[in-house]
Amino acid sequence: MAFDSFRDFVNALDKAGELKRFSQPVATELEITEIADREMKLPGGGKALLFEKPTVNGVVSPFPVAINTLGSHKRMAMSMNAESVDAVANELGALMKAKPPTSFKEAMKLLSLALDLRHAKPKTVKTGACKDVIHLVDSPKLRVDSWPKAPDVNQHSTFNTQPPTLLNLPILRCWPLDGGRFITLPCVVTRDPDTGERNLGMYRIQIYDDKTTGMHWQLQKVAARHGRRYYEKGERMPVAIFIGGDPMFPFAATAPMPDGLDEFLLAGYLRKKSVEMVKCETNDLEVPANADFVIEGYIDPTEPLRDEGPFGDHTGYYTLPEPYPVFHITAITHRKDAVYPATIVGIPPMEDFYIGGASVKLFLPIFKMNFPEIVDIALPAEGVFHNLVFVSIKKTYPMQAYKIMHGLWGMGQMMFSKYIVVVDAEVNVHNTSEVLFHLTANTDPQRDSIFTKGPSDVLDHATSEIAIGSKLGIDATKKLPGEGFKRAWPPLIKMDAAVKAKMEKLLDSR
Ligand SMILES: Cc1cc2nc3c(=O)[nH]c(=O)nc-3n(C[C@H](O)[C@H](O)[C@H](O)COP(=O)(O)O)c2cc1C
Repeated sequence: MAFDSFRDFVNALDKAGELKRFSQPVATELEITEIADREMKLPGGGKALLFEKPTVNGVVSPFPVAINTLGSHKRMAMSMNAESVDAVANELGALMKAKPPTSFKEAMKLLSLALDLRHAKPKTVKTGACKDVIHLVDSPKLRVDSWPKAPDVNQHSTFNTQPPTLLNLPILRCWPLDGGRFITLPCVVTRDPDTGERNLGMYRIQIYDDKTTGMHWQLQKVAARHGRRYYEKGERMPVAIFIGGDPMFPFAATAPMPDGLDEFLLAGYLRKKSVEMVKCETNDLEVPANADFVIEGYIDPTEPLRDEGPFGDHTGYYTLPEPYPVFHITAITHRKDAVYPATIVGIPPMEDFYIGGASVKLFLPIFKMNFPEIVDIALPAEGVFHNLVFVSIKKTYPMQAYKIMHGLWGMGQMMFSKYIVVVDAEVNVHNTSEVLFHLTANTDPQRDSIFTKGPSDVLDHATSEIAIGSKLGIDATKKLPGEGFKRAWPPLIKMDAAVKAKMEKLLDSR
């Protein structure tokens, strides 16, 4: 059963005992972060949180804020209406195995076919709940400093009678040095002006004033490529941002789908129901009919870029201001019963660890098709997404670990990986301590490492230049004679199975 709205998902979390409600007013400026950060740091990711009375400059918003809704393995599985993300990944893998591909390109084609199999293609409908309230933006510009203030913070009024604007939605100011408020779970829809292909990506949105925002699509992302084409053509670029709806939308927006593959196909596949799309009010892009909020607008290629940030980022550090396109809004529409979903990023572990982990699991079958020796991949929380990658392989020939490193650095967003550690098949890559043990025990540092160069995550503050940097691969597998290792490789210490069983019995009987 697909979720019909974000509220539906929140209710399901509540029923499953996965939600904590806050009925007292909590400020969208820093206070929600403080509570959410503590929750996200609990073992296993804590619970989802619903702030029923979030305040914006001391005034209660009519829209509750939901946060950390995808921040555990269990809630990630619930968002897919599945037993576990592994079960979904296995099913997807089996679908694709029906006809093993011979190349990465073919694997992608097959993925698209596999998604199609479940009639996951999005379909256009006339209207939907996301248009319960339509607010066309043509009123005189409101300045940020004219944000309404509650006369007395204990005497909260609501915005119920006011149209939604970027200034009164419960958009978070997450961390003290942030450059303003940021929409942190936005689903951004763009279109390739040449092919008409659609993209859905998650790029944070900084609020500049009631009519303009930043558009933080990093240079290697698909929407940035679309944007460059509009700049080259000198054409206005339509953009639609939506928030909420089925939780599979924000998940699909973050998934590293290849350029040209529609993320709504993935969302439709995962929610087991094709996504119903409606046309925007002020441009001809489409958004899910059941989204909670839609913010429509455009980017003007003749306008200079504007500094975006600082922002307390995934890396655990603030990203300093960098120039990005300015997004002009032309309409805001929303559901009557809208819930505002948000997240915070910062020092790990955070909610994004579970979102990224689910992506790795779903894409593992594709990695395995290209590299059949891969057993498992993990991106530990400490490496905030791509900084650190652990890969286990069934090694059968010399230098195979290096083949895997180079292969991964050449695959989509794995290009951002700073450190790749390759271990043998029996090492559990999800246990960082186990990987570190094998890494330190099985390597001669100079012999077993390789440095190379490549594109880096633009969020990486440690590289000397933005977006380019070096990479380190470490081969922590058992060395073969063909790799110049002439000594005997010692056996790992392991207790005799019979003794183990006998002593376990003894211990249990005490
Ligand atoms: C919570 C969250 C926020 C993100 N914010 C950004 C962002 O501001 N800019 C960006 O380029 N990528 C951001 N990402 C990563 C992209 O969503 C991800 O790389 C996605 O695959 C991009 O889609 P695309 O390949 O269609 O461009 C974020 C991911 C998460 C989970």
